[in-house]
Amino acid sequence: MQISKVIIPVAGWGTRSLPATKNIPKEMLPIYNKPVVQYVVEEAMYSGLTDVVFINNRDKKIIEDHFDYNLALEIVLERAGKTGLLEEVRKVAEMVNIISVRQKKQLGLGHAVLCAKEVVKNDPFAVMVGDDLMFGPDPGIKQLLDVAKDEKLSVIGVMEVPPDKVNRYGIIDGDEFAPGMYRVRDLVEKPKVGEAPSRLAIVGRYVLAPEIIGHLETQEPGHGGEIQLTDALKELARSNSLLAVRMRGQRFDAGDWVDYLTANIYFALQDDQLHDDLKMRLKDFLQLH
Ligand code: G1P
Repeated sequence: MQISKVIIPVAGWGTRSLPATKNIPKEMLPIYNKPVVQYVVEEAMYSGLTDVVFINNRDKKIIEDHFDYNLALEIVLERAGKTGLLEEVRKVAEMVNIISVRQKKQLGLGHAVLCAKEVVKNDPFAVMVGDDLMFGPDPGIKQLLDVAKDEKLSVIGVMEVPPDKVNRYGIIDGDEFAPGMYRVRDLVEKPKVGEAPSRLAIVGRYVLAPEIIGHLETQEPGHGGEIQLTDALKELARSNSLLAVRMRGQRFDAGDWVDYLTANIYFALQDDQLHDDLKMRLKDFLQLH
């Protein structure tokens, strides 16, 4: 079956990026010339997903506005003959359909996904965590969609992390049945260093069967007192219906300052107009510091 919907939870506070995010959603911070959330939506679009469900709160309407037309701006650009920019801003409004769902209380990632219950109905759907940016030869979530279609099971994306970072992620325990493909036996949300079953961390990309909604409805608060998606996934693992795929590509955690700043440079260096000057400035700068 064709999967068309992707849930992107965006109602979090973004405390890791304060004070930058005091009045701006963390998803709207720019990475080079686009807000973080645009990279995530582009990944969804290039993977064939057409309907983006933002799980939103009252203060974050500008996220959905970014994916709508801005007619006043378009008139200004048209009159000024700035056709390149005009096309660029229009294109963003035409990427995907936007569906907005309110998360009235921030009770965790699992709760955010549960808020989309009426929208996803009985169809499988994707989830993308807005802080995790993935870049590579093929779009991140497409790698999972391809496996989910072939295997007709739920699939989550994982990457190996250093042993001292396992406590920042959901970690899987699984059997590798083909290169980079795992049958998940169990999962644990943010285990203590030294207590993780592996170093394979969930990296914010999921393709899920609709049964997950029922499991979320019965979840008690878990790690950090929040309704965890990882805990609901345990139920799928228990019935042998959860796979994990080791994702290919480069990942940036936009909520981590080193990753955020590196991502800015990574994208700016891909712009031919900036490449040479930026490289020279960075070289000079690094010699001085
Ligand atoms: C969430 C998930 C966690 C996953 C992580 C990836 O955690 O709960 O399992 O590894 O996203 O970014 P959060 O970063 O929202 O605390």
